[in-house]
Amino acid sequence: MRLKQLTRISKRKKSFTHDQLLELEAKYCSWGDTVHYAEKLNIFKSSAGSYLYDHQGREYLDLQMWYSAVNFGYGNQRLNEALKKQIDTLPQLACQYLHEEKIQLSTKLAQRNQRTFEEKGRVHFNVGGASALEDSLKLVRNYSGRSLVFAFMGGYHGRTLGASAITSSFRYRERFGHFGDRAMFVPYPYCFRCLYDKKRDFCDLYCLKQFERLFETEYYSVVNKKNNKCEFAAFYVEPVQGTGGYIVPPQEYYSELKNILDRYGILLIDDEIQMGFFRTGKFWAIEHFNITPDIIVFGKALTNGLNPLSGVWAKEKFISPDVFPPGSTHATFSSNSLGTTVGLEVVKLIEESDFAISIPKKGRYFISQLKKLQKKYPQIADVDGIGLALRMEICEKDGYTPNKELTDRIVNLGLSGSLNVRGKRRGLILDVGGYYKNVFTIAPSFYITEEEIDLGVELFGEALKRALKKS
Ligand SMILES: Cc1ncc(COP(=O)(O)O)c(C=O)c1O
Repeated sequence: MRLKQLTRISKRKKSFTHDQLLELEAKYCSWGDTVHYAEKLNIFKSSAGSYLYDHQGREYLDLQMWYSAVNFGYGNQRLNEALKKQIDTLPQLACQYLHEEKIQLSTKLAQRNQRTFEEKGRVHFNVGGASALEDSLKLVRNYSGRSLVFAFMGGYHGRTLGASAITSSFRYRERFGHFGDRAMFVPYPYCFRCLYDKKRDFCDLYCLKQFERLFETEYYSVVNKKNNKCEFAAFYVEPVQGTGGYIVPPQEYYSELKNILDRYGILLIDDEIQMGFFRTGKFWAIEHFNITPDIIVFGKALTNGLNPLSGVWAKEKFISPDVFPPGSTHATFSSNSLGTTVGLEVVKLIEESDFAISIPKKGRYFISQLKKLQKKYPQIADVDGIGLALRMEICEKDGYTPNKELTDRIVNLGLSGSLNVRGKRRGLILDVGGYYKNVFTIAPSFYITEEEIDLGVELFGEALKRALKKS
């Protein structure tokens, strides 16, 4: 075969109908990667800005942006261009060799953290969030010689085996045998549904007091009172709980938690995979709480959903080459040059933007519009958020009993693309989280306009109205 033929992209037309594709999917695709959660299976053809488009060209306003991986909008020109340019220069390179973008991106992240937290540290890359999480577990084990950690109830850290062991939901572990290093799960300060039935105004952080009581005597199983050593090496936190339902903790929670952890030499590991890169209106969500984490884990939006890249930043004492030598943890694609190039461009874009102002402003506007809708519908129980990480709990009319069925109906109506608003049929993409799967976790594009927020609220109102009629 001639070279020209070998290098040409195949122009043969793909000739599958929509229904044939669904048939093939049912037979040949694993269902284990979450696609089959919703009633309707959508095959999308294209995307732009805040919208996805299906095979009929129907428009779906996306209010979840790939679980907050596409913070900077679909088809972001600047980021796409950076990727395209890199494809033509250094698209592939084994990770044992260096390239400029990796060094520049690490430098930018480490220097930013040094300015923010007054701590020297280094950056280590991987590909997916859970893989980076695993790397952080290795850093913890390597430094402390211990393998047990605390984590929050409702926390989500990924689905590799190590990440599943510290993710609270038993459903994610049930089929996969014994998890000897399963975390000890501690109640998250979820004040709307306090596990201790307290009210925030009067509780004096009762949940934290209960955690602190674990250290009172060795018989509560976590600490040796003779030397004050804890069996648990670290506490994994999502500063704002993501999959758990975009729950914002009380302002003073983390500083008081950190005081307890410091007393027993327990590290605080900050999982920023979903909330990092300005989702909450700050570069890292933990910055809202005035504490310094020991390790930060990040992923998702670093590359706006283009070539995946994740990573950890750790304080120097955990990651300097003398304690964490070459090859301590590694993946073939870890610092892939396409990912680092887009990541670098994302960080530059952030530096040149006014997200610290625009994101809280848009979030406040979004919440105010949702609260107007809430006045009409008691089923919208809690509306809250920070930056552009917003939550809306769907309940019975009593405003408290979780209503998963109604939530699912709204999701399915959104996916049906049949919401009639402003004289046009459209769809709405919503993500559901929360302990009772009744929370809309809203993570729109950072470039969403007020007009699009209004459209989103109208589409949601229409879906809710129709879903209630069906009940
Ligand atoms: C807080 C948090 N940690 C870890 C993960 C896992 O990341 P990944 O799905 O890229 O493995 C996620 C994914 O949703 C997440 O939200």
